[in-house]
Amino acid sequence: MDCCQCQGIEGLFNQREAARRLKAFQRKGSETSTRVLLDALRAAGIEGATLLDIGGGIGAIQLELLGAGASSATDVDASTAYISAARDEAARRGFGDRVTYQHWIASSAVITICVAWSAPRRPKRAGSMASSTRATPGSPG
Ligand SMILES: C[S@@+](CC[C@H](N)C(=O)[O-])C[C@H]1O[C@@H](n2cnc3c(N)ncnc32)[C@H](O)[C@@H]1O
Repeated sequence: MDCCQCQGIEGLFNQREAARRLKAFQRKGSETSTRVLLDALRAAGIEGATLLDIGGGIGAIQLELLGAGASSATDVDASTAYISAARDEAARRGFGDRVTYQHWIASSAVITICVAWSAPRRPKRAGSMASSTRATPGSPG
């Protein structure tokens, strides 16, 4: 991709930042806000779910949910560095064949950080748990 917004995202969510976040995730697990979302999704039941993770970053949400029983995930992200980090970590954890990666920039001002799913048993509160966050480079999800 070769637009200003893409270059801005690539600059902000760069390789160094991806490596730093991945290291923190490997050492300490997900960040607090991500953990809150993960707890809610796990409580709703994600067994067999198909996950769409927009702005998936280094893959924390998809990796945690695959580990908790989700069947597969699609990771959409505008940063090639973050996709690369997410792909490496998925392979390292044995989930390499269960995640597909899409490199594109969500055009809306609001992206969902985690949109579930086509689960066999769709949670009643799925819509309300799909947290939204502004996707501008100044306030990343
Ligand atoms: C803070 S990180 C991801 C956090 C992750 N969702 C979590 O909760 O652990 C934000 C990610 O969103 C991606 N991103 C930001 N704006 C985007 C957009 N408009 N379209 C696609 N990805 C975007 C960035 O490249 C980055 O990987």
